Amino acid sequence: MRLLVTGGAGYVGSTMVPMLLDQGHRVRVLDTLKFGGHGLLPCCPNRFFELVRGDVCDPATVKSALEGVEAIIHLAAIVGYPACKKEPQLAQAVNVDGTANLLRHRKPDQRFLFASTGSIYGSIPDYICNEETPARRSPSMARPRPPPSRWCSRPATASPTASPRPSASATGCAST
Ligand SMILES: NC(=O)c1ccc[n+]([C@@H]2O[C@H](COP(=O)([O-])OP(=O)(O)OC[C@H]3O[C@@H](n4cnc5c(N)ncnc54)[C@H](O)[C@@H]3O)[C@@H](O)[C@H]2O)c1
Repeated sequence: MRLLVTGGAGYVGSTMVPMLLDQGHRVRVLDTLKFGGHGLLPCCPNRFFELVRGDVCDPATVKSALEGVEAIIHLAAIVGYPACKKEPQLAQAVNVDGTANLLRHRKPDQRFLFASTGSIYGSIPDYICNEETPARRSPSMARPRPPPSRWCSRPATASPTASPRPSASATGCAST
């Protein structure tokens, strides 16, 4: 498949992208390279690998990055409560508006896989969750309304057409 992996140079992506290439997928990474792109250096000789330095919040960048891909794996985020608390506006922009930007510009047949975070389930006694597990955000989690994870379960035609207006405390925190 032809895949777009946003945030592919991060912790999860730099492990996932080589695995996807090994499986024969064509992978385009869109990442600001906030932490550098060293984890992806081994992928560079692979002719099926493409790295685009850019921001998921920028509509023109996203439109161009979506060209010709069949599926999107969305990992780009400001991750972890401390990082979101430190830069709440950035967290809002990337985690909420950036996700909305991708959903708005993807075509209906471009599948969308959203990483989200286990923290949306709150404290789970047996640590096993599935799609039926109710979300129970802890008070420390931000509250975009509706949260990006909810948008992603809708069909592409129902993607957000405008940025949601979260409450003042909302930071779109991606906590792992
Ligand atoms: N790390 C975990 O154990 C874990 C567990 C569950 C879920 N997740 C989720 O997986 C996703 C990725 O997590 P991670 O640990 O790899 O995070 P990470 O911080 O290591 O990587 C995030 C990547 O996103 C990029 N990025 C940030 N802002 C961007 C922007 N505006 N445009 C494009 N790229 C941007 C960064 O440069 C970085 O490479 C997150 O949504 C996280 O909540 C992670």
